Amino acid sequence: MLEEMLDGVQVAAVVCNQWGDTGKGKVVDLLAKHFDLIVRGQGGNNAGHTVITGDRDLKLHVVPSGIIFDKEGKINVVGSGVAFNPISFQEELEKLEAAGLSYDNLKISHQAKLILPQHLLLDRIREARKGKGKIGTTGRGIGPVYGDHTLRLGLTVNDMLNREVFVRKLEKNLAEKLLVLRHDDPQLIKEIMQHDHLGSGKFHDVDRIFNMSAIVETYMDLGQKFKPYITDTDKLVKQALGAGKRILLEGAQGLLLSVDYGLHPFVTSSDASYRGLAKGAGLRDGDVDLVIGIAKAFYMTRVGAGPFPTEFGGDHSASWCNNPNVTFNIETQLYPNVSLEGHDGFEKGIAVRYAGKEYGTTTGRPRRCGRFDLPLLRYAKEINGEVVALTKLDVLDQADEIQICTNYKYTGPEYHVGGRVLRNGDLITTAIADNEVLQHCQPLYKTFPGWKSNTSKITEFSSLPLPLKEIISYVEKEAGVKVKIVSVGPDREQTIVV
Ligand code: IMP
Repeated sequence: MLEEMLDGVQVAAVVCNQWGDTGKGKVVDLLAKHFDLIVRGQGGNNAGHTVITGDRDLKLHVVPSGIIFDKEGKINVVGSGVAFNPISFQEELEKLEAAGLSYDNLKISHQAKLILPQHLLLDRIREARKGKGKIGTTGRGIGPVYGDHTLRLGLTVNDMLNREVFVRKLEKNLAEKLLVLRHDDPQLIKEIMQHDHLGSGKFHDVDRIFNMSAIVETYMDLGQKFKPYITDTDKLVKQALGAGKRILLEGAQGLLLSVDYGLHPFVTSSDASYRGLAKGAGLRDGDVDLVIGIAKAFYMTRVGAGPFPTEFGGDHSASWCNNPNVTFNIETQLYPNVSLEGHDGFEKGIAVRYAGKEYGTTTGRPRRCGRFDLPLLRYAKEINGEVVALTKLDVLDQADEIQICTNYKYTGPEYHVGGRVLRNGDLITTAIADNEVLQHCQPLYKTFPGWKSNTSKITEFSSLPLPLKEIISYVEKEAGVKVKIVSVGPDREQTIVV
């Protein structure tokens, strides 16, 4: 079945059609053995993917999921569109070593965007300043590093190999940052700079804010460590394409978080569509033969702030999940007995979170949970195409009913958007990527009976419970998508190719 799906495919892209955390790592892991190169093209260590094989449960951030197959000669590439933090990358490599995994064929783009301490500081200061308007970023410096690239102030991985150039560019970059930071609260700066992601104070200087020499020495040192892996990956990938090699592109985040197609301002700062992925991997989007858009089913999650029309428990859930004091332990102590069959939306959201283990890989934050949303899937399909993988189907095995959002009713003030005038009561079938609209969308639901049986051991599509198959075909018909993969558990074996 998998061979059939990949027949004639030289380049495939695995992307997420929702707000991330849909299980891309698992699908990449499933496909990787059929490809020669596995390439990351955007995002950075804001992403987190868990690769589970046998007794290994590996949490990765920037290292491509295909690293599991390094020993078999697969080439794993960190492409030019990636935001690269060498300090956290070094930690990932140490994790691989501890798990007994090799990374001999790893390649890092010399043009990947270099994350520096000032990016983390600015990310965190901006969020702290926003108060209620917080985006809820991961605090990994992603916005500021891509911002510097666009502002023509950025450094790249290549600069870690040339001390003099590194120092010159760093000075220029810091001079610009200091114009603003000098007027900021030194106590807040100090607190942020003490964070372990920022070297626990190593890069802080009380008078000059940044300890230049600590930054230079750390980055030069890491540059030398990574030197054997740093290369022109755009060229490498293009050559591989020309030589007929099979290339698998591994996306990060999700379409709804894309800086180009997502819902501003609650987005990340790279293009998480297959187009952004292809570009950051060194390819044209026309080079991609197969795009697999992943959607969690039949529920959804979102991390951080921003409208989420189908959220279980609405605003209550949003503020609960975005409260930094709420952790898995606190939640389980306060809500030990929530059920998927309950009627309280907020508690149902918690029950879904428990069932789906919906806590951030990167931040440990509880993910906001909601019902499956067709208007958003229709929108994602317009960009990422019709091939869809549905993951985590087993999570709602015990739910008594499944609600699917079929359309929205617009409930906001008159609003002009893209040549259309929206008025209170209008029906929206395909989501409009504008928060002014999404925050005033009331979901309309269709309720299906739950299948109430264990799907996690099913290996054939035809053996899935009938009520579940009916929901899948409803979604295919209503969103115009083709479901090609369904996943019923975290293991590679718990995957059905349709
Ligand atoms: P940033 O990418 O850290 O700037 O965060 C911007 C927004 O994207 C926030 O709402 C984050 O929660 C969200 N985000 C970033 N990376 C991921 C991810 O891998 N999964 C889910 N949400 C993410």
